[in-house]
Amino acid sequence: MNCPRLKDWFEERYDWKGIKRLAKEKFVPEHRYDLWYYTGGITLFLFILQFLTGMLMALYYVPHIHFAYESIIEIVTKLNMGWFFRSLHHWGAQLAIVFLFIHLFGTLLLKSYRKPREMVWVTGFVLLGISIFFGLSGYLLLWDERAFAAVRVATGGAGAFPVIGGFLKAFLRGSIDVTGDTLLRFYAFHVAILPIITLALIGLHILLVQFHGMSVPLSLEGKKRRDIPFFPNVFLKDLMIWLVVFGVVVTFAVLLPPEIGVKADPLAPPPENIKPEWYFLFMLETLKLFPGTILGFNGETIAILCVTVGILFFFLIPFLDRKSSRGEKSPLFTWIGVMYIIYFIVMTAVGFLS
Ligand code: HEM
Repeated sequence: MNCPRLKDWFEERYDWKGIKRLAKEKFVPEHRYDLWYYTGGITLFLFILQFLTGMLMALYYVPHIHFAYESIIEIVTKLNMGWFFRSLHHWGAQLAIVFLFIHLFGTLLLKSYRKPREMVWVTGFVLLGISIFFGLSGYLLLWDERAFAAVRVATGGAGAFPVIGGFLKAFLRGSIDVTGDTLLRFYAFHVAILPIITLALIGLHILLVQFHGMSVPLSLEGKKRRDIPFFPNVFLKDLMIWLVVFGVVVTFAVLLPPEIGVKADPLAPPPENIKPEWYFLFMLETLKLFPGTILGFNGETIAILCVTVGILFFFLIPFLDRKSSRGEKSPLFTWIGVMYIIYFIVMTAVGFLS
């Protein structure tokens, strides 16, 4: 029987030429900072891993206060490799946030956000916010006492936000306190709403990168350099790096499976020394710097306002850094970037140690 090859089958039906040309035309600048280019790809790989392991767990997880905790116990004790996939999902999430921050700080220091790539930065920044909400919503799904207490503190903190705080708290909790309604709501966010928005935004982010091509650091612009083809050179390097990252996630997953605490009891006092996920620590430590009242105003509200202004400024950097958009050096924004990085690392470390 004449069995045409798969490639011929497609070529007879679809015109691949456009895509082939696009792939052939994609080049990446080679220079001493080009390692940063791989951080976005690593983040992408970790997101794919999260989708796959999350889908597997969704087959068994039950989003109800009477069964959520028990269903996770069942996943890790009764299902073949269930503990491993849960552990992969946990460590994949941690590393995804680590690489998101590395990717963000890399693009910040290389000023890849400058004109015409402002919207690449904007879509990336929204993705960071969504990823943090992914973490918070996923944390509650375990429904153990630590997750319960942490989400109670986080959603309570959202309530201190001026003007919209009350609405925000009620919207997040879906009820007057953290209850089964909150669990169901966080589940819907975690497995349906956030993934759909994330897929659309990652698509847009990467499409914009393809549209503009990779940026060249300001200090190397106009200097002689080599451009290397994305297919196969950079792509193969991407795959090799992903393999190493996968090895790291698997190692963590096998050696340090995440703990499961005592089942949440909304009427019990919160456990001592509860800590949110590490990427919230810098915010928590910042809030602690402020006294209870400042000139008669609620200190927490003022602290939240200050953090919001800090984040907003960070978000708007591509539009504020006029010099780098004109192709001129802008050491002020390099220093601002470095200050943000140092502040984030120091406050996170203080949060860990306190
Ligand atoms: C789910 C999260 C994200 C994914 C999957 C992702 C993925 C990528 C990929 C694959 C690239 C192209 C290669 C590279 O530079 O590494 C890229 C470029 C870029 N990303 Fe992201 N990214 C994410 C989040 C972010 C965040 C949080 C920011 C900053 C706020 C950001 C800003 C940028 C910029 C400015 C570029 C262009 C780099 C250049 O042209 O040199 N991204 N991203």
